[in-house]
Amino acid sequence: MILISPSLLSADFAVLGKEVRKITKAGADLIHFDVMDGHFVPNITFGPMILSAIRKYSNLSFEAHLMIEQPDRYWKRFSDAGADIIGFHIESRVNHNRLIHDIHKEGKKVCIVVNPPTKIITTEKLLSKVDVVLVMTVNPGFGGQKFITSNIKKIEWLDKERKKHNYNFLIEVDGGINYETASLVKQAGADIIVAGSFIFGNKNYKQVIKKLKCC
Ligand code: DX5
Ligand code: ZN
Repeated sequence: MILISPSLLSADFAVLGKEVRKITKAGADLIHFDVMDGHFVPNITFGPMILSAIRKYSNLSFEAHLMIEQPDRYWKRFSDAGADIIGFHIESRVNHNRLIHDIHKEGKKVCIVVNPPTKIITTEKLLSKVDVVLVMTVNPGFGGQKFITSNIKKIEWLDKERKKHNYNFLIEVDGGINYETASLVKQAGADIIVAGSFIFGNKNYKQVIKKLKCC
């Protein structure tokens, strides 16, 4: 069964705590928290203080998707604020191995994120070390964009690699998810889907989550 991680990027920011509570009751499996700094991506969202304020509204795991220039400098603040999974981009100029080591040492899970133009082979040496690989199916920065179908090959490759080497990482997909694309990524081997505008754009969160799980 696929896990659903609603992206708060499309939630009502004026009542974010209530949105977190509502989406938890509606059957979400994780909470996806998109952090943007206006440099790594051309948009700015929220920081660790907001995460800390909304953390108490749910017992689910929170994943911080860090779309920022210096994830090595800031990840700990999100961890301290209550993030359970720290996601950083392979495209960010950091020592990937050291960052993975530091996050694990803190007792948190690591997610490595891959942008649409980046070749999936770049993750090869990290696959034995990470807990989640997140395949971006839109260019990061904004919700509500169209799914880029060519990324499905990356999911299939990851699924093959983990079977071949007995790796334990989960495959997550983020961007442009609706019933149709959810079904495509599920067939390709995805375990977690992030959905923002498709869930929060509908009044009945519970129904959308349920349908996303079974489509
Ligand atoms: C985009 C973010 C996504 C975004 C997805 O940069 O990483 O998590 O919220 O939004 P939708 O589901 O609307 O494509
Ligand atoms: Zn995201």
